[in-house]
Amino acid sequence: MKIAVIGGGPAGLYFAILMKKQRPAAEITVYERNRADDTFGFGVVFSDATLDNFERYDLPSYRRITQEFAYWDDIAIHFKGDVHRIGGNGFCGCSRRILLLILQERALELGVRLVFEIDVDDEAALGEPDLIVVADGINSRIRERNAAHFQPEVDLRPNKFTWMGSTRPLDAFTFIFQDTEWGPFIAHAYQYEVGRSTWVFETDPGTFHRAGLERMSEAESAALMERIFGWFLDGHPVLTNRSLWRNFPMIRNKRWVLGTRVLVGDAKASAHFSIGSGTKLAMEDAIALADTFEGGRTVEAALALYETGRREEVEKTQHAADVSLVWFEHVARFWDFDPVQFSFGVMTRAKAITYDNLRLRAPEFVAEVDRTFARQATTHDPEVDLERPVVPMFQPFKLRDMRIENRVVVSPMDMYCASEGVPGDWHLAHYGTRAVGGAGLIFTEMTCVSPEARITLGCTGLWNDEQERAWTRIVDFVHAHSAAKFCLQLGHSGRKGATKLMWEGMDRPLEEGAWEVCSASPIPYFPDSQVPREATRADMDTIKAQFVAAAERGERAGFDMLELHCAHGYLLASFISPLTNRRTDAYGGSLENRLRYPLEVFQAMREVWRRHKPMSVRISATDWAEGGVDPLESVAIARAFGEAGVDLVDVSTGQTVREARPVFGRMFQTPFSDQIRNEARVATMCVGNITTADQVNTILAAGRADLVALGRPHLVNPFFTLQAAAWYGVPAVHCPPQYFAGRDQIFRNSERDRQDLEELKIKARPKTRAELRMEQDAKPLAAE
Ligand SMILES: Cc1cc2nc3c(=O)[nH]c(=O)nc-3n(C[C@H](O)[C@H](O)[C@H](O)COP(=O)(O)OP(=O)(O)OC[C@H]3O[C@@H](n4cnc5c(N)ncnc54)[C@H](O)[C@@H]3O)c2cc1C
Ligand SMILES: Cc1cc2nc3c(=O)[nH]c(=O)nc-3n(C[C@H](O)[C@H](O)[C@H](O)COP(=O)(O)O)c2cc1C
Repeated sequence: MKIAVIGGGPAGLYFAILMKKQRPAAEITVYERNRADDTFGFGVVFSDATLDNFERYDLPSYRRITQEFAYWDDIAIHFKGDVHRIGGNGFCGCSRRILLLILQERALELGVRLVFEIDVDDEAALGEPDLIVVADGINSRIRERNAAHFQPEVDLRPNKFTWMGSTRPLDAFTFIFQDTEWGPFIAHAYQYEVGRSTWVFETDPGTFHRAGLERMSEAESAALMERIFGWFLDGHPVLTNRSLWRNFPMIRNKRWVLGTRVLVGDAKASAHFSIGSGTKLAMEDAIALADTFEGGRTVEAALALYETGRREEVEKTQHAADVSLVWFEHVARFWDFDPVQFSFGVMTRAKAITYDNLRLRAPEFVAEVDRTFARQATTHDPEVDLERPVVPMFQPFKLRDMRIENRVVVSPMDMYCASEGVPGDWHLAHYGTRAVGGAGLIFTEMTCVSPEARITLGCTGLWNDEQERAWTRIVDFVHAHSAAKFCLQLGHSGRKGATKLMWEGMDRPLEEGAWEVCSASPIPYFPDSQVPREATRADMDTIKAQFVAAAERGERAGFDMLELHCAHGYLLASFISPLTNRRTDAYGGSLENRLRYPLEVFQAMREVWRRHKPMSVRISATDWAEGGVDPLESVAIARAFGEAGVDLVDVSTGQTVREARPVFGRMFQTPFSDQIRNEARVATMCVGNITTADQVNTILAAGRADLVALGRPHLVNPFFTLQAAAWYGVPAVHCPPQYFAGRDQIFRNSERDRQDLEELKIKARPKTRAELRMEQDAKPLAAE
């Protein structure tokens, strides 16, 4: 078998090594355009988990690599004169040059042919190998030449960055967030050998321009970095090696295989430097590709397996990298944060690290996070215990005069089982149980302001006395038997009205008994849905009056809070989204026009809703569709509602148009809440695939929302909050006396379970290489 590898970077060399071990008779040649020791960059970084992988696949190169490594456990975050160190991270770094020399040496030892100083311009010049491994890096010429097939997507990120180095010793992976007269600069730095550290500098395009960096030579820009970070560099120089400032390209390819050619490493998929996974991804690609040849598979079969089997893992790493890079791009958003909260945000930015996870590894740091959060909560309640603060989810929150016991919310959820809009026994049991379960705030389902405003025949309403009486009974129960506050969500279905019950066909039009629906514009939801009537000004006046009347009824029923539903494609959302609003009058076109009617309804309701009671608005922060509402616009929407007197923005997404392509995942809507809260400066509630108390605490402690709503988890577990209170040992949560015995038992058991689990986790956690090194009585490199 003949194999040609184009590119002698980590991906190409490691694949050659693994393949030669697997098929010693194969003729493998690596073509590299540079000289053997002529390499850009400074250090590379691997996690302990990646090193475990290397150990399994090629022990000799693993041994040589690990001998050369600097190890560290801590991440140090410098921000506004504060430094926070968080341990237990298990990383190591090595010089890229040495890594490549080790891999070259090992490849030669196994009989791989290495040809340097050959720039492969045309694969035809390689003869006719059975396999061509395209490992020619981020700017892959082979990929670009076959772009029509591979379909690369290159997302050039806005921030500017450069790889530089220094002689400054470091004993932790170090982030420095530095204010300058031009704007913020960030340094990502780590040591990779004695007296050598990698320094990646990053800044936003505006700061880059204001600092005049685009006109500076490499030496001048290094001198500027030396000046900016001089206080930390301690007299050590900033070093360069082809250290140009560039924009990071996130690379993805639709296809990875073309005949006998296969993409690996950066040529195929890049990962942002902030999660330190570029070289890891490249070498793990090599492992995955070599693995597929095991068992004597043909080239065709092996490549097909590589393309399908490896994709998910790569996409997962790239997703984590995406989330991380976006955090760094928006760092200005968090600049006013307390340094402790800021550092917690840095640590938890990519979802892999959470509150509980950090509590185990860095308990003192998390205790500080809790204290900081408690201090902030004193603005809502001066009685908050600062000495022994409870976890963030159990800190109180206040909106106008309404005090909420904790930050957990039962999200509005339609039960689809009202009769003529009247909530019945089901609703009493449903809301009653959720209130008793301990959540600080519970929402009603979307309650409709008229018979025609209903989505389905099973929706609740609040347009007549019978409904008002029925709601009053439920509100009274909630207030009598729980500490939960109760928010009434009012809405109008618009073009999604006259549809079937959820379990009979969500949003599908009724076959019988449909009523005429209206919307901002006459566009049906499904092609076979009813074409809505375009709301006239007279319709708008009628509907506004219905909202006001329902708000007045809600007031009389005793609700603590009122929410206006402007999300999910219902009537008011249909005005806001340009995809559903094609009007040419004062209510269509610009955002200002599209918001005019929803704001008018809100203001009319605000006038009748008592001043001391809060109001919120639910919005779809993105339509997840081309040309629709996007996060930037949703910041403007939130701001406009904030100016109109909204106390809380309830941040949901989508469900506006059929062609939406949402990207689901854990906590997938939280970034929108984060952006709105910290750019529009309004209180937010986030929701969407949040399932654990750990996630709730992570979101709150990082300042990404003020309240956290859970929908589906509460359907099957009304006692989510009480259970979380038991888990974290927070006895102050309300519990009705009828349930005291159960509460006492769960508190006792949870304390034991928690201790057992934590001990198990600590025992099960393998020692990091840094810890092992310390144990072997060898000092960490940085201290040598
Ligand atoms: C300027 C720069 C500095 C970096 N510094 C660091 C760092 O300090 N630490 C870190 O962790 N990561 C660094 N990275 C990222 C990291 O290098 C990559 O994520 C990782 O090396 C990917 O491995 P690879 O083998 O896929 O590609 P590469 O390492 O890029 O290797 C590709 C190789 O192919 C060769 N090549 C390209 N075209 C041809 C051709 N036509 N013919 C023959 N040979 C060719 C190139 O010379 C190169 O050696 C840096 C990236 C850049 C662009
Ligand atoms: C059965 C069901 C009914 C829902 N009804 C409403 C509703 O009436 N009003 C509303 O704003 N959102 C409604 N939603 C959306 C939820 O409030 C929530 O935003 C969504 O389920 C995502 O949160 P989760 O992942 O925690 O379930 C409903 C969701 C479900 C599952």
